[in-house]
This record gives sequence, structure tokens and C-alpha cells, in this order.
Amino acid sequence: MKEALVTAVNDQINAELESAYLYLAMSARMEERNLPGLARWLKIQWEEEIAHAMKFYDFLIQRDAHVSLKAIAQPEATFDSPLEAFRMVLEHERHITSRIWELSELAADESDYALQSLLKWFVDEQVEEEDNARAAIDALSLVGDSGPGLFLFDREMGARTDAGQAAAE
Ligand code: FEO
Repeated sequence: MKEALVTAVNDQINAELESAYLYLAMSARMEERNLPGLARWLKIQWEEEIAHAMKFYDFLIQRDAHVSLKAIAQPEATFDSPLEAFRMVLEHERHITSRIWELSELAADESDYALQSLLKWFVDEQVEEEDNARAAIDALSLVGDSGPGLFLFDREMGARTDAGQAAAE
């Protein structure tokens, strides 16, 4: 693999692990707010981000490229309400989408068809990630950020059983 691509994929491993760390911190904040369903949803999201990092990790190993793990920044997981929390999730996922698209452009420029093939999965995954966050924002905007509506929404989000299941299905 070209060195620039190896560096970019290693940077993406770091970005996915930072995403995982952010969602785990947000999950802890939801526990503190007595919202176990939202905490569970975010914890599953943490697992999903670890799986994303490992897809890139395994790809580098398979391509006989050097894996270089970097420091993970302390997450900024402070929010005033569940609605604000999911707005943060959407903003973060948009940031990740732009990274994936940049990486896709680099892989195309360098004619690395194997990396392009892997990134196709991530391009599709980001559509789902943003859609999940938007669904949660829409639901929270409707039911409100407190009271019985939030209680029911928390229960619904807590029904998520595996990484990849859409929010508010
Ligand atoms: Fe790995 Fe949520 O994007």
C-alpha cells in the first residue's frame, strides 16, 4: 500500500476509536440522568465504533501494512438534554462522513481498488449512521425532552439489541 494511504487509514482507526470513546462517555452521562435505554443505545454504538476501527485494522494487517495506534483524545460529552446529545451525535457522524469521503477520494487518486471496495461499505454505513441520529432527533423533538414521552422513548431506544440496528425503528 502507498504510504499516504496507510497513514490515512491509521488516522481513520483513531477517528473510529475516538467515536467509540465519545459514545461511551455519553452513555455514562445518560446513566447519570436515569435514562438506561439511551445509555444502552449509546453503549451499543460504542461497540459498533470499535467494530468499525477493527475493519480498518484488519484491512491493514491483510495488506501487510503497518498498524500505528495513536492517543485517543478525551471526549467532550457534555450536554444539557437528550435532544442536544443526539444533535451532537449527528454533528459527529457528519464529521466522520466527510472523513470517509476524503479517504475515498484519496483511494481513488491512488488507484487502490481494494481500499475503495472497503470504503464503499463505510460510505453506505455513514448514510445509516446519520439517519439513525436524525431519527432520534426527530423523535425527541416530537415527544419533548422530559416527562412520559421521554420515558417511553428511552424504553424504545433501550430495545436496541445489536450494533447496526436503526434508532427508533
Ligand atoms: Fe464509525 Fe459512527 O461511524
